Amino acid sequence: HGTSKVNQKGHLEIGGVDTVELAEKYGTPLYVYDVELIRNRARGFKNTFEKLAVNAQVAYASKAFSSIAMINLVNEEGLSLDVVSGGELYTAIAANFPPERIHFHGNNKSKEELEMALHYQIGCIVVDNFYELELLDQLCKERNQNISILLRVTPGIEAHTHDYILTGQEDSKFGYDLQNGQADIALEKALASKYLDVLGIHCHIGSQIFETTGFVLAAKKIIQKLASWNKRYSYFPKVLNLGGGFGIRYTVDDAPLSPSVYVSEIIHEVREQTSLLGLNMPEIWIEPGRSLVGEAGTTLYSVGSSKEVPNVRKYIAVDGGMSDNIRPALYEAKYEAVLANRPNDKVEETVSIAGKCCESGDMLIWDLPLPKADCSDILAVFCTGAYGYSMANNYNRIPRPPVVFVESGKAQLVIKRETYEDIIRLDMPLIERSVIET
Ligand code: LLP
Repeated sequence: HGTSKVNQKGHLEIGGVDTVELAEKYGTPLYVYDVELIRNRARGFKNTFEKLAVNAQVAYASKAFSSIAMINLVNEEGLSLDVVSGGELYTAIAANFPPERIHFHGNNKSKEELEMALHYQIGCIVVDNFYELELLDQLCKERNQNISILLRVTPGIEAHTHDYILTGQEDSKFGYDLQNGQADIALEKALASKYLDVLGIHCHIGSQIFETTGFVLAAKKIIQKLASWNKRYSYFPKVLNLGGGFGIRYTVDDAPLSPSVYVSEIIHEVREQTSLLGLNMPEIWIEPGRSLVGEAGTTLYSVGSSKEVPNVRKYIAVDGGMSDNIRPALYEAKYEAVLANRPNDKVEETVSIAGKCCESGDMLIWDLPLPKADCSDILAVFCTGAYGYSMANNYNRIPRPPVVFVESGKAQLVIKRETYEDIIRLDMPLIERSVIET
């Protein structure tokens, strides 16, 4: 992936930096991000829109990995930003990201979160439901402030992906149903508001999608609806946002398409449908998360204990696990790995990589071919850049690992390792009952 290669010392190198040296300097576990790969992906999406002469915004879905340095990078690459919580919005603002390029998502934004978005005058709020529509209208009224919104619809598409990350189908907690009249009522209400400017329509059909069919079908269904809205309400959106979900290659079995293929097939369909129905071409917005950062991330672990179950399997444990990567436990996600200090050594056995958490399900990789590894080895697990750090947790009170960016032979620490002090920072000691009662 990206700039990864084996260097002259026979070590895995990323962004021109020796990963064994990184592990020595910053300790393990350690997340390493290949910045050049992120830039290339960002440019891949942007350039495709430019070549096809389509007005577009590519918004990075920061839930995949949010940190101040990451947001700085997104800004450098001229992308927009999708946030889904007050915390992600706060991070974006702290990173000096231009508020007008921030889009705010979520199916249950709180009053405080909406007020925060209004306070910073962000680019748009993606309104998910009637409760939010009314609350936002009310808050705008109180502040005498207008805001741009997108209405999130569920077009009834089943994208082929893991059940838990499928979101565009009818039975979903997200958005207004496009077929049963909900979306029409939402649009009527939004258009009637003095404060809400209905910039466009949004949908997101799922995640880790390898085909263009779902996107194309969603675009088609929405545009047909837009034709009816055009007649009925004389309304036509400036923006059609088709969400994220573009798949990446975690293992050799995955066959993702390139950003340009996803984008050009979507554009092709939108052009065809709009011209067929005599409609304008809207701006096309997308929100990739995983496909911008997933393959750019590698986690380095130190190998520790091992256990042989005779005639069954050999477990090799590393110094992290579901606390820094919950995806295998949560989604049965698959990963590949090598020994960073000797990636070209001959494969000698098949082992299963266990984490160190007190939970049998804390397995990172089942049946991984490896040379015989021991505690002098560093394991590099690939493609952990999306939903790795962002879903990391302190289970077993394990401190979260640091994050390092590498590019052109240089490394930069962008998130520090948590300390034991951080772990107890919010704790309060038990007060003696006699003291509370007085
Ligand atoms: N836009 C919306 C409205 C979304 O809900 C999501 C992801 C994205 C964009 C970005 O999707 P991406 O391009 O990253 O696939 N934790 C799961 C993934 C959950 C995705 C939720 N929404 C995982 O680790 O696979």
